[in-house]
Amino acid sequence: MTAKRSELKRQLLEQARQRPSARSVSNIGLAGQASRPASRKVPERFTRFDAHPGYQQIALMRQGAEQLGLKDPFFKVHEGTAGATSVIDGRTCINFASYNYLGYSGDPRVNLASTQAVEQYGTSVSASRVVSGERPIHQQLEQAIAKAYQVDDAVVFVSGHATNVSTLGYLLGPKDLIVHDAYIHNSSLVGAQLSGAKRMSFSHNDLASLDALLERHRHQFERTLVVVEGLYSMDGDIPDLPELIALKNRHQAWLMVDEAHSFGVLGDTGLGLREHFNIDPREVDIWMGTMSKTLSGCGGYIAGSVPLVETLRYFAPGFLYSVGMPAQVAAPSLKVLELMPEEPERVEKLQAVSRYFLEQANARGMDTGPSIGAAVVPVIVGSSPLAAQLSHALFEQGMNVQPILHPAVPEKSARLRFFISCEHTQEQVDQTLDALEDLLSNA
Ligand SMILES: Cc1ncc(COP(=O)(O)O)c(C=O)c1O
Repeated sequence: MTAKRSELKRQLLEQARQRPSARSVSNIGLAGQASRPASRKVPERFTRFDAHPGYQQIALMRQGAEQLGLKDPFFKVHEGTAGATSVIDGRTCINFASYNYLGYSGDPRVNLASTQAVEQYGTSVSASRVVSGERPIHQQLEQAIAKAYQVDDAVVFVSGHATNVSTLGYLLGPKDLIVHDAYIHNSSLVGAQLSGAKRMSFSHNDLASLDALLERHRHQFERTLVVVEGLYSMDGDIPDLPELIALKNRHQAWLMVDEAHSFGVLGDTGLGLREHFNIDPREVDIWMGTMSKTLSGCGGYIAGSVPLVETLRYFAPGFLYSVGMPAQVAAPSLKVLELMPEEPERVEKLQAVSRYFLEQANARGMDTGPSIGAAVVPVIVGSSPLAAQLSHALFEQGMNVQPILHPAVPEKSARLRFFISCEHTQEQVDQTLDALEDLLSNA
């Protein structure tokens, strides 16, 4: 018996020696060559970071910029608070590249809340919240978010991106379906991939095609989640929330709305998409948002029912296995949530100056796509080199706006993307659009 076993072991070892494992074959890209004698030499390109496709793409981009005589438009260093104006390279410029929508980042009251939190709690909570990282300020912030949404509860994560990754990745599985708008943020895509659920996208804001998709496929899956954004950050347009709610109810699906850009921007008091449409917030299953925009901090949140929030608090990997939010990061968002209801004029100003921007851009014949004129307005110029050149030339004249280039958007819709703050003035808008009009007429 023992001799038989050791003979079997010897044969298995011999077979293993002769056959490279499936894992090592696919890792070095040699799948399909398994029948050839295995060479142990790995091509050098698989051992070098400078041969990585990502790095090669950066090199190509830099080469293109150099040929056009442009500086790399990314990683510009802002030397202070980035609001309607910002200091870059020692120069104050009009700034349309930051999502400080209600101007609270840099507000002395918000800064003070943060420094007081550091004094009270130190700079790190030094553990996952589940195991000794919990502080009163976490619960205060979550209660304030739940109150803003008029739902049962909320949970905050240390990153907005990780919020979507963990939430989708944990809640859905291989027997489920995720249907999302084609323009959904990368964080939701990555979360959907992680979940192992079947993923399908529908054309941007095309709810008839969403309906058709659900009609055809919903019954083949257990759970189904529809994911949309409250305000799309490339185009500045919004989904039809009442119609989405009707659809998701008809098809027994959950609806998740990512309010990264709509909270603070839409609705009379900035309470987001549901205030804009005057919808009962409990009609949406999962409200998601980030603290990095209007809320002037960092991190993300999920707001909704007790079972949803509790499940994520106990099991979402990006919450359970990650440190709790530092108090000085939680405090500014808590303060903003306290200030927002007292200062609705900020939302009013943001909406007025955004509408003004849209009207003035259109009056000058600029293509602003489907933007509704709420904090995000693109000017589509149709070519990545032109968008990069315009951004560079505007910067030379003291105006900072980010170009959005292929592959972030299709080449024909390369654009300048303007983020507007309640602190922008009509004069700043006029000055910028005049300069852009001039540049476009000479392009
Ligand atoms: C729609 C949307 N969701 C999620 C995120 C991720 O948020 P954060 O940058 O706060 O991690 C972003 C980032 O801008 C976003 O635009």
